[in-house]
Amino acid sequence: MTTDERDTPASPAVASSTGQPKANEVDGAGLADAARPPAVLDVAREAARRAGAIIKEGVARTLRIDFKGEGVGDPVTDVDRRSEAAIAETIRAHFPDHRILSEEGATGGSDPRWRWIVDPLDGTVNYSHRLPLSCVSIAVEHDGELVAGVVYNPLAEELFAAERDGPATLNGEPIHVSATVELRRALLTSAFGPWEAGGRRFDRARALGPHVQALRDLGSAALELCYVAAGRIDGMGGSSLNAWDVAAGMLIVRQAGGQVTDPYGDPFAVDGKHVVVSNGALHGAIMARLHGASEAIPPKDKDKDQKPAEATPAALPPEAGAPATLAPS
Ligand code: IPD
Ligand code: CA
Ligand code: CA
Repeated sequence: MTTDERDTPASPAVASSTGQPKANEVDGAGLADAARPPAVLDVAREAARRAGAIIKEGVARTLRIDFKGEGVGDPVTDVDRRSEAAIAETIRAHFPDHRILSEEGATGGSDPRWRWIVDPLDGTVNYSHRLPLSCVSIAVEHDGELVAGVVYNPLAEELFAAERDGPATLNGEPIHVSATVELRRALLTSAFGPWEAGGRRFDRARALGPHVQALRDLGSAALELCYVAAGRIDGMGGSSLNAWDVAAGMLIVRQAGGQVTDPYGDPFAVDGKHVVVSNGALHGAIMARLHGASEAIPPKDKDKDQKPAEATPAALPPEAGAPATLAPS
């Protein structure tokens, strides 16, 4: 018998920066808080907490569930929409000019320098099944660079956050990726687009499954990124994801010491769709396994998110595609 330890070493303290002062700072000229706008991270936190209250409240009542597209793989609930409204309202109240890219369509101003990338409820399938693995994800870009990110799971009371150049935190405490160096000891997760039920999803599982401790799909890409950041899991791979699934989490995992690339090891852009994330130490080993099974990775030079014909969802009985409600059990 062997004994393992999994710890989560604290990340080094680094100066914080969003390009904006903190709400509670006074600058050298003595300008007080009230005279300056709040930092974007503080507003992201405020928006996430407002949305979190809506998500928490929704757990105890009947949900209205609609389905995007043809099948039932991509549900949207009234809670997704109410969460988004609260987030957008908070952003607009503080930064009316900032642009907003949000999954359910909320919009903001037109300042080309600032963009908020919002998933008002990541893990909607989990949420609609009453699994407590879903979150709010809010990222802020300035001149095309991520400067702040917040991922909040109100059902676990866990708020992950990071700023560019600052530490990643969980409920205010620094977090760091795992120290796992052997693939066979790694717990990995995967996140796939709703239509990728077969095909590459299983190829990827076949390529990695026999070589790791275990593989999971937690149903929330944003939380999976944060769990890599917190050292709970050692890596994750995602396909056909959208910017709102990954923007906040990728900043958080980077600031926690993790590595984020595309499946070819090149830098991952926020709208890159296909991502490989690890604690850094395992990145090469994960990549080698994926590339050992070429069907497990998307082709580099083709359209990044082509929906294969065979992935079309099976026909559903008429009532299954119609707007539905789900009563809490
Ligand atoms: C989904 C989750 C899931 C991922 C899907 C996403 P949603 O987001 O992040 O983990 O596999 O591709 O669409 O729809 O619950 O916001
Ligand atoms: Ca999502
Ligand atoms: Ca969502």
